[in-house]
Amino acid sequence: MAKVLVLFAHPGQRHSRVNILMAKIAGGIEGVTFVDLYADYPKLDIDIDVEQDRLLKHDVIIFQFPIYWYSTPSILKEWQDLVLEYGFAYGHTGDKLAGKVFLPVITAGGPDHAYTEEGRNHFRLRALLSPLEQTANLCRMRFIAPYALFSAHDARGDGRADPHLEGYGRLLQALRDETFDIDAAARMELLSAETLPLRESTPHE
Ligand SMILES: Cc1cc2nc3c(=O)[nH]c(=O)nc-3n(C[C@H](O)[C@H](O)[C@H](O)COP(=O)(O)O)c2cc1C
Repeated sequence: MAKVLVLFAHPGQRHSRVNILMAKIAGGIEGVTFVDLYADYPKLDIDIDVEQDRLLKHDVIIFQFPIYWYSTPSILKEWQDLVLEYGFAYGHTGDKLAGKVFLPVITAGGPDHAYTEEGRNHFRLRALLSPLEQTANLCRMRFIAPYALFSAHDARGDGRADPHLEGYGRLLQALRDETFDIDAAARMELLSAETLPLRESTPHE
């Protein structure tokens, strides 16, 4: 069984319609460690030792967040700036994250067609997330296609929220049980509830 860590960052949780439900699911799955970063660090005074220790104890690292200004909420940038230290996460002897899996789990207010070169936002979501992807690469982690929900404000009204929530639960369980096909996911642009590459059993059985 893999140890899965969800680092949840949402600065406006009382207005959240989707992430708050996703957070409940993540928090309720046995074997998944769920951390609400804004609850733990309301003044952004991140405890580097605690966070590095958490990373060492887990195999799969997930950032769960709503996209804010085409990026992560600020606490996740602060977390990266402080926690991913030279000599720990990267650099000559910084190999502590090597071989771990990194997965962004994202909601966006904009629709999927806005996230194209021709669309209103001019960039694919994956392109906007390239700093996260390259950070994972530098730390020798395996970057997995983001599990993404577009038009998140409409998702509960138009029936997309329930499958997305259920898919998130399946995704977390599969990562934990090592039945998630990481190689297949690495070839994908984005993950959704409909496209999760799951295997029947672990490759080691
Ligand atoms: C400060 C702020 C910035 C945002 N920036 C973006 C953005 O760049 N792109 C986008 O698609 N949605 C953006 N949104 C919309 C959020 O991503 C959206 O409200 C969220 O994903 C919905 O999830 P929730 O119901 O869990 O809050 C922004 C929202 C706020 C409050």
